[in-house]
Amino acid sequence: MALPRELPVVVVCVSLLLDSLASAVASANEQTLPPPALPHVAAPLNSISPWNIHTEDWEQFLRDNLEADLKPWRARVPLTSSEIPKLLLYYHNEVKLAPHILVLLLVYNNRLYWITHPDGRAQLELPERASQYMHQLDRHLGKVLRAGRLQLPNVLFIYNTDDNALRIGNPNRNITVPPFSLCKSQGFFHGDDLDILVPQMIAIPDALHIVPWHLKKDLAFFRGVPSCSRMWEHTYKREEACSRMHLAYLSERDRRAGNATALDVGLADEYKVVGEKKSTPYELPKYDRVPLETHAHYKWLLNLEGMVAAYRMGQLLATNSLVLHQRSIYIEYFYRSLRPWVHYVPFWNATGPGGEPAMDDVYGVLEDVRRLDREQPVRVQQIIANGQAVAKLLGLQMRLEYYRVALERYKSLFPDMDQYLDSYVQELRKRGSDI
Ligand SMILES: *[C@@H]1O[C@H](CO)[C@@H](O)[C@H](O)[C@H]1NC(C)=O
Ligand SMILES: *[C@@H]1O[C@H](CO)[C@@H](O)[C@H](O)[C@H]1NC(C)=O
Ligand SMILES: *[C@@H]1O[C@H](CO)[C@@H](O)[C@H](O)[C@H]1NC(C)=O
Repeated sequence: MALPRELPVVVVCVSLLLDSLASAVASANEQTLPPPALPHVAAPLNSISPWNIHTEDWEQFLRDNLEADLKPWRARVPLTSSEIPKLLLYYHNEVKLAPHILVLLLVYNNRLYWITHPDGRAQLELPERASQYMHQLDRHLGKVLRAGRLQLPNVLFIYNTDDNALRIGNPNRNITVPPFSLCKSQGFFHGDDLDILVPQMIAIPDALHIVPWHLKKDLAFFRGVPSCSRMWEHTYKREEACSRMHLAYLSERDRRAGNATALDVGLADEYKVVGEKKSTPYELPKYDRVPLETHAHYKWLLNLEGMVAAYRMGQLLATNSLVLHQRSIYIEYFYRSLRPWVHYVPFWNATGPGGEPAMDDVYGVLEDVRRLDREQPVRVQQIIANGQAVAKLLGLQMRLEYYRVALERYKSLFPDMDQYLDSYVQELRKRGSDI
């Protein structure tokens, strides 16, 4: 097991000492104010649009991500529009993804219509039952369309808001058109999923958050609910083998031993699934959630898998903290712009000293980045700056713009789309849709 060496421990002990000094003073005088908030600069991202960034950066971003999704489909053109509603029925009936998770979306004359069944009606209002992801898409995309601030082509597409552990774009499925999803897998069995990824509109980085580096806590930080992909059971020969629960356990173990000098990992819910073969041998305490700004108070931020990709990588990259990213097969739309040791530092799925798979390599990785920070601090700051440069492309306007480009290029795969929509809209009108 890798343990942090002397120096980082000393560094942290000094700050712990100051903390306890502060609390001693505080308890001596009940009128004492709480410790001062750390100075914090936030550079807003919401209004950054392609006009504010280098064209080449944006084109590169689209090549790395969107074009990677389109490539297998470009090899299959021409695609046929009438396959889109058929595929929807397959997902509803065979894959059992309900219409409040997976729907048809129609953009027509720059309005967004929701269609829960291909033979049903198209409606401007969100269906009564709709996932949070649909609510947020409607809120953000619906709004700019109504205001005429974004122009989309007429287009019909499948919008999947499931976490996608079912892999609706698995190349093993006989799918004839691409669905749009928020997450998919890469490098798993049967090959890379064929979904076109688009941004989820819930956890959007609002600003670059900057806190002076030397005032940050020298701990690897995480707060989140105890969710789990369970995909590591085989690798680690353990039930569940969840990164969140296991790292929360390591953190609690160290805290109880009085040496919590590496991790500050807490679950935002009770977790009672315990046992020697589980992720944790005993129950773990419940911690409060922590707002994103406060994450910037730590030098090292852990990005841990939930059921699939946890949708917070973009927000973590937006802080001037270094992201320690768990190796995972699950990706969001922008992950292909990220490289290890360039934008983040990877851990997990490692081999231990005895050749066995190790679940605690995070200690060794933390030791490495702390050493790098001592010996070549510029390199640590460069990784952070590279991460923030990607985060600049992930704000609200940039996400909407990504939808626009994705829909235009998707449409170009279907030479018959406009013709098909003419008759499809006629049918929708016959069925009483106000369109
Ligand atoms: C795949 O789907 C297409 C269209 O739905 C169908 O014509 C074809 O027979 C299917 N192929 C297989 C191997 O199931
Ligand atoms: C803290 O102490 C426990 C128990 O001795 C040990 O297993 C663990 O590796 C230590 N953690 C650190 C960060 O030194
Ligand atoms: C985990 O490690 C194995 C063995 O090195 C490798 O084949 C696999 O791709 C890794 N998985 C991820 C998600 O990094």
